[in-house]
Amino acid sequence: MTKFEQIKGFLFDLDGVIANTSAYHSIAWHQLADKLGVTWSDELANNLKGVGRMNSLNLILKYGNKENEYTEEQKEAFAKEKNDNYLKLLDHLDKSEILPGMEDFIKDLSDHHYLISLASSSKNSPMVLEKLDLAKYFDAKVDPATLKHGKPDPEIYTRAAEVLNLKPEECIGVEDASAGVKSINGSGAISLGIGDPRILNEADLNFKDTSEVTLTNIKRAMDMDLLEKAGVESK
Ligand code: BG6
Ligand code: MG
Repeated sequence: MTKFEQIKGFLFDLDGVIANTSAYHSIAWHQLADKLGVTWSDELANNLKGVGRMNSLNLILKYGNKENEYTEEQKEAFAKEKNDNYLKLLDHLDKSEILPGMEDFIKDLSDHHYLISLASSSKNSPMVLEKLDLAKYFDAKVDPATLKHGKPDPEIYTRAAEVLNLKPEECIGVEDASAGVKSINGSGAISLGIGDPRILNEADLNFKDTSEVTLTNIKRAMDMDLLEKAGVESK
């Protein structure tokens, strides 16, 4: 793994990493799944994380064996309905919904002159970042509308490094979703997964929750990893 000292940039997912908005996406998809008669499950909820709007709808229909039941126009209408419901849930979104420690972490990165970009699949992400009053810390954002492939394809994280004029190898990508961790790994950046290590088992670094994500803890985890790989016993 790259050394901590070689890191110059951080590439952030948004929903479920910076704010609790992943839960709102889930509520809105669950509402639509109920309407379509597709059984909701934790597995489906996890597989939807990080996945773009239309691909999410297609996955829900696949789970319900209903892939061929609707026209493209009907699917567009379902996706719009989900987004309208999601936006209603965001009506009162403010700084209080930033996940524990994330504002301090992002501010600390900025104070230490790391470059910061956004790698969210969500077309609502610029608005969400503004509402959270965090947009000012971001040097660049990837517009998901310009991508050919969604997560787990590496494209979004490759671009998130590129917009900072960095190589992916000089960056750490931060994710809560398995599809996102795969995307980071494919780009060549270091993946930092936040959440259940059984679900994020492909992540290079794993933290149980956002409050553990600090520069000191990341440096410690990367140093330990290098020591382990070198076969040196660490305390
Ligand atoms: C991701 C979320 O960040 O964005 C997914 O994890 C969501 O749940 C996806 O479906 C697309 O978001 P939007 O806001 O463009 O529908
Ligand atoms: Mg996420």
